[in-house]
Amino acid sequence: MPVSGKLKVLLLIFAFLIVGGTLLYTHEIVQQLQAKEREVANLYAKSLGFIANAKAGEGDYSFVFNEIILAIDFPIIETDSTNTEIKAYRNLGVDSSKFSGEELQQYFLEKIAEMDELHEPVKVAFQDTIILSYVHYGESPLITKLRWLPFVELSIVALFILIGYISFSYVKRSEQSNIWVGMARETAHQLGTPISSMMGWVELLKEQAGRDAKRLETINDMQNDLLRLQKIADRFSKIGSKPDLHEENLTDVIEKVIKYFERRIPHTGKKVALSIQNGSQVKAKINRELFEWVVENLTKNALDAIENGVGKISFSIHEKGSQVFIDVADTGKGIDLKHRNEVFRPGFSTKKRGWGLGLSLSKRIIETYHRGRLFVKESRPGFGTTFRIKLKK
Ligand SMILES: Nc1ncnc2c1ncn2[C@@H]1O[C@H](COP(=O)(O)OP(=O)(O)OP(=O)(O)O)[C@@H](O)[C@H]1O
Ligand SMILES: [Mg+2]
Repeated sequence: MPVSGKLKVLLLIFAFLIVGGTLLYTHEIVQQLQAKEREVANLYAKSLGFIANAKAGEGDYSFVFNEIILAIDFPIIETDSTNTEIKAYRNLGVDSSKFSGEELQQYFLEKIAEMDELHEPVKVAFQDTIILSYVHYGESPLITKLRWLPFVELSIVALFILIGYISFSYVKRSEQSNIWVGMARETAHQLGTPISSMMGWVELLKEQAGRDAKRLETINDMQNDLLRLQKIADRFSKIGSKPDLHEENLTDVIEKVIKYFERRIPHTGKKVALSIQNGSQVKAKINRELFEWVVENLTKNALDAIENGVGKISFSIHEKGSQVFIDVADTGKGIDLKHRNEVFRPGFSTKKRGWGLGLSLSKRIIETYHRGRLFVKESRPGFGTTFRIKLKK
């Protein structure tokens, strides 16, 4: 696993620890608070019982409610022994003047049912035998808020991290892109002058060579190489600016690349057949020079992948709706499953003299300049690989 992968796993574990820790800690506090409220409710019930015993069950002891336990901040209801008549209540947040007696009774009964679900009601008994009333109690707003707190906190933190991450990666990407574009433009610019002056020299040499056929052939080769250099410089300058897209016949473009490779393959000592199927009429909006570059890169990789010297590279073009697919299939060594996602990473190469730039450049050309997609459609180690380019018409 690359370092960045390990770092991600580590950060993820750390994030889980923080989330887990926060939730556990809050849960712990909520439990402690609940225990305290339970104690207070019990104490309250006990004092009611104590007063009842002292007064032999007579008299009004609601002052306990009004004065002694003013500090209670959770909702509490006292009912009679049949659990139907409300004797007293606190912290229920109802305005009794706004409701009819009937409605109020209904509301209280619902609340009592809710409270009983949370906590068993506490009995107030006379001489520990006759039940005088029940104390029902719920949860204080503090506990309810506390239950939500970690979620609120964590979502704010998550949102913050998300915004931070997006803006940082945006900055990073545009910086990288600036370097890339700047380098390309500078290189094209620097190459331009010597290439055009060499073109002039070659013309001069041609004139001087007269009818010397051997010399003329060498000069022609030189000229071809120069044209190739000029093409490379042209591609570099295109990648440094926003390229124009034009409707082009894809077969024409690919056939040109095939011709180029057919001239070169004999020098590599390999026997590789290049072919193109279907789609002779399919057109798409592309920048010809840059698209050629992509096809060249894919073909070069396919050629490299055919290690035993004999094989096939086939291009096929088809369209579906407004989309065009160009598949480049080879009978090479294939890509290991574990490398399937890495091949597009700049610098990833399994070759002795590879820069690992071909595919990342191609992906960039297809995805950034053509708004298309480039991906490994299928690859079987030992049998071959198919890359797919998806373009809009
Ligand atoms: N058709 C293919 N079959 C098998 N493996 C491939 C194929 N195309 C690419 N790869 C793998 O992906 C890697 C990255 O390819 P990429 O073109 O980006 O770099 P490279 O060819 O190694 O170097 P460069 O293109 O910069 O000279 C290759 O080294 C190779 O391991
Ligand atoms: Mg390559």
